[in-house]
Amino acid sequence: MALKAVLFDLDGVIVDTAKFHYVAWKALADRLNVYFDEEINERLKGVSRMASLDIILERSETDYSDEEKAALATEKNENYVAMVQKLTPAGILPGVVDFLTELQEAGIKSAVCSASKSAGMIIDLLDLNGYFDAVLGGADVSRPKPDPEIFELARDRFGLTSDECLVVEDAYAGVEAAKIAGMRALGIGDEAILTNTDVVYRDMTCFNLEGVKALF
Ligand code: G6P
Ligand code: MG
Repeated sequence: MALKAVLFDLDGVIVDTAKFHYVAWKALADRLNVYFDEEINERLKGVSRMASLDIILERSETDYSDEEKAALATEKNENYVAMVQKLTPAGILPGVVDFLTELQEAGIKSAVCSASKSAGMIIDLLDLNGYFDAVLGGADVSRPKPDPEIFELARDRFGLTSDECLVVEDAYAGVEAAKIAGMRALGIGDEAILTNTDVVYRDMTCFNLEGVKALF
């Protein structure tokens, strides 16, 4: 089956916003006196805002109402969005523009499939709109990764089948979502964390379209 679309996660794949998410969650956790570290943070990658808050509050002795939780998530998000405003195209991770250019020249579709409600704003700040045929974010789906909804939405929008799509992900939950959707997944980052996919590269300078096509 030929490769017809590449579906990209955003945070940790196109841009390193994970560090801003971490700083914003850490500030909230510190204020609430809840223990939070980089290891727990790993579980938040690819996961929705409210699900992330629930993971952080696993270590809290206080029970928060849904209303209080919504306010805590808003507090974190306002802090995060303020930090992210500093992003410019210089924040695009290495190899991303080259790979997107190769896809465009080959007529292969590309989409952003992110759990983040700020996905569109971040793509604007990075000035990457011209490279993507679709930008889907947290507001477009009701079920967060590892549910495959966001990848299926992109696939259906392009009128393709799962085996014509490749997902590029840095999060365990995102790779799970791709697999449930019946798509191949290429991991970016750490082999020790992305144990659920066969192919893991350090970043996007480590492969090109020819190499990716060989996976099909
Ligand atoms: C991405 C990140 C997660 C984040 C989620 C929701 O998937 O990897 O860490 O929690 O988006 O982001 P949002 O901007 O909507 O809070
Ligand atoms: Mg990610």
